[in-house]
Amino acid sequence: MSIDFSKYIASYPDFPEPGVLFRDISPMLENGDVYRAATDQIVQFAQDRNVEMIVGPEARGFIVGCPVAYQMGVGFSPARKKNKLPGETIEESYGTEYSQSSLYLRTNAVKPGQRVLVTDDLLATGGTIDATIRLVEKLGGIVVGTAFLIELTELKGRDKIKDYDFFTLLKY
Ligand code: PRP
Ligand code: HPA
Repeated sequence: MSIDFSKYIASYPDFPEPGVLFRDISPMLENGDVYRAATDQIVQFAQDRNVEMIVGPEARGFIVGCPVAYQMGVGFSPARKKNKLPGETIEESYGTEYSQSSLYLRTNAVKPGQRVLVTDDLLATGGTIDATIRLVEKLGGIVVGTAFLIELTELKGRDKIKDYDFFTLLKY
């Protein structure tokens, strides 16, 4: 059965601020068959690249990356916002369409040479995923792929990650 994933994305004008058309993955997550089918496609992409570890940024990168890690039997490490991760961490700052922030990763999250997939729900300006990639590479990880449910093509995030293998389920 082939699924029209676009039917499971809700669109909200002027959220979280005027001028932003917010694409929401919640309907996709709320349907078990659709969530699983979307996850299966990313699992296939990751298996083809012999992924050994997954890293995803807070918060929705967890939703995409964790089921892939579970299915593959590999680890998942969360890249988190300020004051969320205890212990020794590294930091990368970044900007997006409507925020300026930093992400942190545990210094033990990734081993040098490990083949890493970075996941998020959506690629917009690319600021978030670029910071996540920089964190992984600072620890010596090899980013063998980036995977999203949605790419907002107008915001040209792909330009920031053009050196990396890329998967997206949907484009707007
Ligand atoms: C959103 C989204 C991506 C990022 C995409 O997260 O889930 O992580 O923005 O934008 P970019 O490509 O311009 O970086 P947000 O910062 O809203 O955080 P949240 O998931 O914690 O709500
Ligand atoms: N949806 C969800 N997250 C986002 C969006 C969006 O349209 N733009 C930037 N982050």
